[in-house]
Amino acid sequence: MTYSTTVSLLLLLTITATATVTLPSDVAALKSITSGIIPNTIPSYSCLASWNFTSDPCSNPHITHFLCGLSCSTNRVTQLTFDRAGYTGTLSPLISQLTQLITIDLSDNKFSGPIPISLFSLPNLQTLNLRSNSFSGSIPPSISNLKSIQTLDISHNSLSGSLPNTLISLPLTRLDLSFNQITGSIPTLPTNLLELAIKSNSLSGSLSKSSFNQLIQLEVIELSNNSLTGSIPGWFFLQQPLQQLNLANNQFTNIEILKPGTNSNLIAVDLGYNKIDGYLSANFASYPMLSSLSLRYNKLHGPIPTVYSKKSNLKRLFLDGNYLSGLPPKEFFSGKSTVSGSLGDNCLKSCPVSSELCVKSQKPSVICEKVTYESVGVKVKQKS
Ligand SMILES: *[C@@H]1O[C@H](CO)[C@@H](O)[C@H](O)[C@H]1NC(C)=O
Ligand SMILES: *[C@@H]1O[C@H](CO)[C@@H](O)[C@H](O)[C@H]1NC(C)=O
Repeated sequence: MTYSTTVSLLLLLTITATATVTLPSDVAALKSITSGIIPNTIPSYSCLASWNFTSDPCSNPHITHFLCGLSCSTNRVTQLTFDRAGYTGTLSPLISQLTQLITIDLSDNKFSGPIPISLFSLPNLQTLNLRSNSFSGSIPPSISNLKSIQTLDISHNSLSGSLPNTLISLPLTRLDLSFNQITGSIPTLPTNLLELAIKSNSLSGSLSKSSFNQLIQLEVIELSNNSLTGSIPGWFFLQQPLQQLNLANNQFTNIEILKPGTNSNLIAVDLGYNKIDGYLSANFASYPMLSSLSLRYNKLHGPIPTVYSKKSNLKRLFLDGNYLSGLPPKEFFSGKSTVSGSLGDNCLKSCPVSSELCVKSQKPSVICEKVTYESVGVKVKQKS
C-alpha cells in the first residue's frame, strides 16, 4: 500500500464517519416524509429540493444539501420547518420515529389526508403548526400523549368530528383550530391556555362552566362563527385575565352581565350577530378596561343606558341592528365624546344624523311599533 493510497483511505474513512451522523431511523423517517410529497410540487428553489440523501441530514456544514427545512441536535432531528413552497401530498406516519422533534411547522402548504395518529404521541413536541393545509379527519383522544405541547395551530384545514375530552391534560398555552368543520360541544379546556381560537367551525351546545372552570390565565377567547346556543352567563365575563372575547355570529339568545371587580381586564367584547333578546345591561359600563363593545344585530330593546356615554375609555360602540328605543344619551353628541361606531337601524328617537353614530337610519316605525307590542307581551297599543 502506497503512502498516497493510505491517505486517501483515511480521508475516505473520515468522510464516511462524518457522513453518517444521523440516527438511521431518523433518516428513514425523513426519506418517508419526502416520498409522501408529489415530486413536481417541490420547486427547485425550495428547502426540500436540497434534501439529497447521498449526504447525511444532520452533518454540518450544509453547503449543497439539506440547506433548510430541518434542524438537528447532534444526531437527532429536532425541527421540521418547511417553507411555504406549495408542497402537496400526505404526511408519512413514520414522522413519529422523529421522537426528538420539538417543532413541526408545515404551515401554508397543501398536505391532505389525515394527520398521522402516531404524530400525536411525540413526547417532546412543543409546537405543532399545520395551519393552512388540507388535513382532514378528527383529533384523536390520544392527543393527550403530546406531553410537552404548548402551541397547537391546525387552523384553516378540513378537520371534522368533535373535540376529545382528553384536551384537558395538555400543557397547551395556545390553541387555534379556527376555520375547520369541528362539531360537538366545547370540552373541558387545558388549564394553562392563554389563547383559545376555534372560530368558524360548527361547535354547538352552550358555554358550560365545567369547560372553562380551571382556566387561570386565559386572555383571548375567539369562538365567533359557530352554532353555540343558550345564555352567555355572567361568570363568563368575570374570568379575571380575559382581555378579548369574540362570540359573534352564533345563536346565543340571552346574556347576563354582572358587575365586575376592579381587577377585570376585559378590553374588547364582540357579541354581534346573535339572537340576544332583552334589555341592554348598564353593567357593561362598570368594566374598567372595556373600550370596545359590539352587540350589533341582535334583538335588544329598551333604552341605551346613560352610563355608556359617561364611560370615558369607551372608544367603539356598535349597537346597530337592534330594537333599542327612547332617546339616545345626549352626551354621545356633545362634541367631547370620542366614541365611534353605530347606533343605527334601531328604534331610537332623535338620533342626530350630524353624528357618525347615527348616519345609518333608524328602522321604519311600523317595525318598531310591532316589536314594542310583541316584546312587552301585552296589548300596549290598540290600533283603532
Ligand atoms: C444528489 O447528490 C449527488 C451527489 O452530489 C448527485 O450526484 C445527485 O445528482 C443528487 N441528486 C439529486 C436528485 O439532485
Ligand atoms: C363562517 O364559517 C364558515 C365555515 O363554518 C365559513 O365558510 C365562513 O367563511 C365563515 N364566515 C366568516 C365571516 O368568517
